[in-house]
Amino acid sequence: MIEINNLHKHFKGNYVLKGVGFEVGKGETVAIIGPSGSGKSTLLRCINLLETPSDGEIKLDELTIHAHHITKEMLLKVRRSTGMVFQNYNLFANKTAIENIAEALITVKKKTRSDAMAEAEVLLNKVGLQNRAKHYPSGLSGGEQQRVAIARALALNPKVILFDEPTSALDPELVQEVLQVIRKVAKEHVTMIIVTHELEFARDVADKVIFMDDGRIIEQNSAVEFFKNPKEERTKKFLEKFTQQSMYYI
Ligand SMILES: Nc1ncnc2c1ncn2[C@@H]1O[C@H](COP(=O)(O)OP(=O)(O)OP(=O)(O)O)[C@@H](O)[C@H]1O
Ligand SMILES: [Mg+2]
Repeated sequence: MIEINNLHKHFKGNYVLKGVGFEVGKGETVAIIGPSGSGKSTLLRCINLLETPSDGEIKLDELTIHAHHITKEMLLKVRRSTGMVFQNYNLFANKTAIENIAEALITVKKKTRSDAMAEAEVLLNKVGLQNRAKHYPSGLSGGEQQRVAIARALALNPKVILFDEPTSALDPELVQEVLQVIRKVAKEHVTMIIVTHELEFARDVADKVIFMDDGRIIEQNSAVEFFKNPKEERTKKFLEKFTQQSMYYI
C-alpha cells in the first residue's frame, strides 16, 4: 500500500508540485495523465527519491518518509522497494538482454550468476523475448528494449513499479507490444503507477486515473468513472483535446 500526503516540490522558486496526495492499494494500477509540465515525472521521481521532495510524506507499506527527515538508509530502502521504467529504456549497452536482467539479481539480490541467469530467462519469456536473450540493446528494437527494461524491473520484485511514459519514445507500430506486456503484468496484480499519454490504455488497464495540472491533482477516480463522467472543467477540456486529436489521426 502506498500513500502520498501533501507532497511539494520546488526547484529554486519554481513550484512544480503543490500538495499532491493519493493512495495506491496493493496490486492496483494507477495511471497519471495531464499536460506537459504539470509535474508528472517530478512526482514519480519524488516517490522513489530520485528527487528530494520539499515537503510532505510518502508511505510505502511500513516505511514512512517525511521530506525533512530522509536518511541514507531510507533512501536505500526506497530504491529497493521501487522499480522504474523510463521513456528511454536505460539498459546497459555493453550487456546482452539476459545479462541486463541478471545483473540486477546478482548485484542487488546477491544471487549466483547461474541462478540469476535462470531467473532472467523466465522473465525474458514472460515479456516474449526468449529468442533475444543474447542480443545487445543496439540489436533490439525500441519495443524490445523496453520489454527488457520491464523484465528487469520485475526481477527485483519491487513493492511498486513506476513507469514514466514507457511508450512515448517508440515508433507507433511498436507501442502496442509494450502496452500488451504492461497489461499482462497488471493482471498479475503487480502494483504500478504509470504516467502515460495513452488514454485508451489508461482506461483499459488502470484501476484508478489521476489527472494532474499545474502541480496539483485536479481529479482522481476509478478509470471507468473518470472517462465516463469527468467532473472538473479542466479534465473535460483535456479529454476533449485528446479525443479530437485521435479523431484527427484516424
Ligand atoms: N531538475 C529540475 N530542475 C528545475 N526544474 C525542473 C527540474 N525537473 C523538472 N523541472 C520543472 O518542473 C516542471 C514539471 O516538469 P515535469 O517533467 O515533472 O513535467 P511532466 O508533467 O512530466 O511533463 P511531460 O508530460 O512533458 O513529461 C517543468 O516546468 C520543469 O521545467
Ligand atoms: Mg514527464
